[in-house]
Amino acid sequence: MKILMVCLGNICRSPLAHGIMEHIVREKGLDWEVDSAGTGDWHIGSAPDRRSIAIAKNYGLDISNQCCRQITVLDFERFDRIFVMDKMNLRDVLSLARTEEDKRKVKLLLDTEVVPDPYYEDDQFDTVYKMVEDGCRKILEKELKAESSRSL
Ligand code: 4NP
Repeated sequence: MKILMVCLGNICRSPLAHGIMEHIVREKGLDWEVDSAGTGDWHIGSAPDRRSIAIAKNYGLDISNQCCRQITVLDFERFDRIFVMDKMNLRDVLSLARTEEDKRKVKLLLDTEVVPDPYYEDDQFDTVYKMVEDGCRKILEKELKAESSRSL
């Protein structure tokens, strides 16, 4: 399974989703590929926001080596699933999709709510971390269930 996590800047939310997903799939011994990207181009080449690095560190994860990049149409070929944080990300990523198959790859990370942009909200990083972790664990559960029902 190849998973891409996407937000607007690729410095706050999707680097957390990238680091958390990578960690939990490794815990399970799975050989999944996980990456992240932003719809915007402002921070290309930068490390994650220091507040995301700090909150991840609080939970024992080091995301400081990640490097911001912008999503491209080629990501639809490289990845099986593309998870976005909010409705604007959803619209922006869907606007890059070329086919119905591309569109089917794109989903909100959380089924029933959006992960709010914490860029201007210093106190939101812990909430965002927990929401993203919850989303990642549910995605893993769902994929593993689907996999085991396919192999029956
Ligand atoms: P992210 O947060 O989409 O979670 O990475 C943002 C980071 C930067 C900006 C907006 C959102 N920005 O406008 O630079």
